[in-house]
Amino acid sequence: MKLKQLMTGAAMTALISGSAFASDVEVLHWWTSGGEAAALNVLKDDLGGQGIGWVDMPVAGGGGEAAMTTLRARVTAGDAPTAVQMLGFDIIDWASEGVLGNLNDVATAEGWDAVVPGALQAFSKHEGNWIASPVNVHSTNWVWINKAALDATGMAAPGSWDELVAVLDAMKANGITPLAHGGQAWQDATIFDAVVLGMGDAFYKSTMIDLDPAALGGADMVEAFNRMAKLRSYVDDNFSGRDWNLASAMVINGEAGMQMMGDWAKGEFLRADQKPGTDFECIRFPGTQGAVTFNSDQFVMFEVSEGRDAQLAMAKAVMDPAFQSAFNVVKGSVPARTDVPNTDFDDCGRKGMADLADAGNNDRLFGSMAHGHSVPASVKNAIYDVVTAHFNGEYDAETAAAELVNAVESAM
Ligand code: GAL
Repeated sequence: MKLKQLMTGAAMTALISGSAFASDVEVLHWWTSGGEAAALNVLKDDLGGQGIGWVDMPVAGGGGEAAMTTLRARVTAGDAPTAVQMLGFDIIDWASEGVLGNLNDVATAEGWDAVVPGALQAFSKHEGNWIASPVNVHSTNWVWINKAALDATGMAAPGSWDELVAVLDAMKANGITPLAHGGQAWQDATIFDAVVLGMGDAFYKSTMIDLDPAALGGADMVEAFNRMAKLRSYVDDNFSGRDWNLASAMVINGEAGMQMMGDWAKGEFLRADQKPGTDFECIRFPGTQGAVTFNSDQFVMFEVSEGRDAQLAMAKAVMDPAFQSAFNVVKGSVPARTDVPNTDFDDCGRKGMADLADAGNNDRLFGSMAHGHSVPASVKNAIYDVVTAHFNGEYDAETAAAELVNAVESAM
């Protein structure tokens, strides 16, 4: 076989350009929707331009559960990918297993300590060592509204739970599906993040972070589940199993009024050439204004015998300020470093950046339970099970609150 046929395009470019990187990075990720793939291309092109070869290892499935299952199988088989997209507590779990590469040299040379917010560093560092390179900050307490569908209600974007219900009722009366949703556990949990936060910062903290049994099983939790059931009543009959980006498409094409989803949804609106303020509105989930439930995609590098240069080059590249702007403009997220200008961002992105900074300053920034930043995966999955069983009508609100206490206790 000719040398050319044996090499990937990027490796060939590296060879021709005389780059120092002898190997590629194999990247395991779950960015397979249109908007996600567009953002991924920004990363691939950036790395390619620096002579870093890319071997794609996509595992479809929003929220990354399937990707994490594949990762576990690969590592067990002694075949870890070189770079992996990862969230929150999963990073810490893998770091504790002692299989992640140390990024201190590049972090020190690039001054990461000074520009990455502490809330992110809690997941990028383990025992004082940098083990992940954060590419973005997403947040889950957003609502994406079709502007024409909102205008047709004659109402303003909702600012409170009661206003939200009024808008959803009006959309229903107008003959569209009020709420676009995909019945998958992580999507139910994404709405649950926002509903719980909407009942107060203290309630979110005591339940989703501190796992206080009294709060998990108390009257406010019953109310949270009642609100989940209310939202369930606005979903169409075909919601079960639907992928999140197909739910976004329903809002984009006017079949549905709104979607409650993290800001990766904005990537889908942008891909469809929609403009914030004109075609769609982005608002914080009513009742959560000023607070943020965040998640941050980070890249971890597994320890490898060959290819460390390419890994370190990738870790450095994703933290480059110009790259962080270009990537996050497309992805819908905001930069993971505090020194990136908002110049190239649209109104939703600028709001996301300002909200993140304000929430951080005002002690209103919380890790997203649904996306692995408030509790370890075992507890997260236990919460998922109860939230989904309730959403599908298996439990009433009182039973769900009681089951939540049991499920969390057995997972701890
Ligand atoms: C999140 C991830 C985002 C986006 C989303 C849907 O967990 O942080 O980057 O990919 O899942 O797939």
